[in-house]
Amino acid sequence: MKGNGRTYVDHLLAEHRRLDHIVRRVLASLPNWEEPDAVDWRPQMLAGLEAIRRELSQHFQEEEAGGCLEEAVASCPSLSSDVVRARAEHAHLLEDLRELIEHCGSDTGGAALSSHVLGQEIGAVVHKLRAHEALEDRIIERGFNVCLENEDMAESRSGRPSAAGARDD
Ligand SMILES: [Fe+2]
Ligand SMILES: [Fe+2]
Repeated sequence: MKGNGRTYVDHLLAEHRRLDHIVRRVLASLPNWEEPDAVDWRPQMLAGLEAIRRELSQHFQEEEAGGCLEEAVASCPSLSSDVVRARAEHAHLLEDLRELIEHCGSDTGGAALSSHVLGQEIGAVVHKLRAHEALEDRIIERGFNVCLENEDMAESRSGRPSAAGARDD
């Protein structure tokens, strides 16, 4: 791989690792489902979700501005439709997060949002986000002719615990 390609790949993988770390931290702030919601966990969760959306928005802008994915298509044009798909997913993921934030922040009075329900919703979005990252990993593997099985991110992904309510299969 050319020097630039390696830089692109390293940067993207480092960003994915950083985002995954933030997501894990936010998931860890969900209370235990079996316990009653003694403390109001929502302000912390809300701040966490807003941080994820902010970081993701920045990350997606970087990806769309050119670099790794564009370079992958340049060296392997058949990846074009996968990159178009990955880019289209950005808007959907940000919209999903916006809805989550709205839901988490809404006070439904007597029918207070339970951590269980929100945990399932967050898990579903995290599952989509990880599928999105996996798609980008496959694009990188083919575009730069690398095997990410040996990379930190792939190791981290294979060992990551399931998100609340999400399935990793
Ligand atoms: Fe992306
Ligand atoms: Fe990405």
